[in-house]
Amino acid sequence: MNGASDHAGAAIRADAARVLARIVYDGVSLRAAFDARAARNADPRDRALLSATLFSASRWWLRFDAVLGRLLERALPPKAREVHSLLVLGFVQIEVMGMPDYAVVAACVDAARLLGQPRHAGLVNAVLRRFLRERAALLAEVDLDPAIRHAHPRWLIERIRNDWPRDLEAILDANNQEAPLTLRVNRRRANREDLRDRLAAAGVEVILPAHLADGLVLAESTDVSRLPGYAEGHFSVQDGAAQQVVECLELEDGQRVLDACAAPGGKASHMLERADVELTALDADGRRVPRIRENLMRLGLEANVVEGDAARPASWWDGRPFDRILLDAPCSATGIIRRQPDIKLHRRAGDIGPLAALQARLGAALWPMLAPGGKLLYATCSLLRAENEAVLAGLLDANADARALPLPERFGRVAGAGRQNLPGNKGMDGFFYALVEKAP
Ligand SMILES: C[S@@+](CC[C@H](N)C(=O)[O-])C[C@H]1O[C@@H](n2cnc3c(N)ncnc32)[C@H](O)[C@@H]1O
Repeated sequence: MNGASDHAGAAIRADAARVLARIVYDGVSLRAAFDARAARNADPRDRALLSATLFSASRWWLRFDAVLGRLLERALPPKAREVHSLLVLGFVQIEVMGMPDYAVVAACVDAARLLGQPRHAGLVNAVLRRFLRERAALLAEVDLDPAIRHAHPRWLIERIRNDWPRDLEAILDANNQEAPLTLRVNRRRANREDLRDRLAAAGVEVILPAHLADGLVLAESTDVSRLPGYAEGHFSVQDGAAQQVVECLELEDGQRVLDACAAPGGKASHMLERADVELTALDADGRRVPRIRENLMRLGLEANVVEGDAARPASWWDGRPFDRILLDAPCSATGIIRRQPDIKLHRRAGDIGPLAALQARLGAALWPMLAPGGKLLYATCSLLRAENEAVLAGLLDANADARALPLPERFGRVAGAGRQNLPGNKGMDGFFYALVEKAP
């Protein structure tokens, strides 16, 4: 390595440590922190290393933070939190990402100086070198605790154990895998086979999964905005489990449809690609509503995009009932931890009750807006029964005219009156689906 690339290696690690500290200590989301930082980074290789490091370090923080605890005689002071983050990401780059040991050590020592912590450069050197010498024994010791081995918070392990006892290990393993990059063809502008061929001609290997009518899975992750057809709206990025939502809805041309929690518009746009429906795409978050418009514009689709609270229809509903309602509810996102590993660091046990109460409130408020004979699809990317089948059971109990319809086996396990795809099943995210019909 020459001097310039040594410096680049240190600078990228110093950056990664700063961002990781924001994620871990300030509760900033990985996606938001990465996007803010990556926007300033022109070099695609640096961006890729930053992304891979932040994802792996967030995914494995709880395990390697425990290792660091064994290696430090006393905890680093709060003002050295970036050095703490640097050490954890150094372990992760060596142990998980398989980067060359001594290059990581040298770059992290220099990164400590770039972080304005030259007094800690010696400590970084000593701790990383000791990790290299003792890593097998250290990991064997911390891994005796399953919560540390799987790098999940204890409360979440207990909840998953309670809800999916026989699948616990498989779920935790799936949560720690990298998710595949899955695209959805825009049927209005392209077809799946042609898109596959165009991507193959650009050197991108793609498979067409049999269980997804519109899906393409890429063999390797890439910057999709550089792929042929992206700017022209020929495809979107969307996990297969989310693509299945449209299959449940049984859309027909001419229907009035409400997407009650629509931002950023992934499922709303899929609906419009598949049928000529009159769609209202609603979301309560004024910062996210413009993203619905941007996505529809890129894909060449139109909807009535509205900012509003689904639980307070007076401000946005004209009183005409909907034939279909999608309630893709705000949730714990415990089914998509492999895509958003920082959920393991940010979600708290106490979040689940209020989320379930919000989901129930949204379901109760939307039910009167459904036409007789109409169908409401309740969906979440949660694994937890409290947010899924319990919310659904509440909706069915409260409304004598509500009846859950059976969904095909390919939507996953039976879970109460709905179905649950567990993360990793058919390579897809964890997702809950329940289709409820209103008596005609
Ligand atoms: C799971 S996300 C929706 C994802 C979206 N359906 C898609 O496929 O792109 C949940 C959304 O619910 C919205 N939300 C939360 N509370 C709401 C409320 N009371 N009314 C309407 N939208 C709400 C959030 O702003 C968030 O955008």
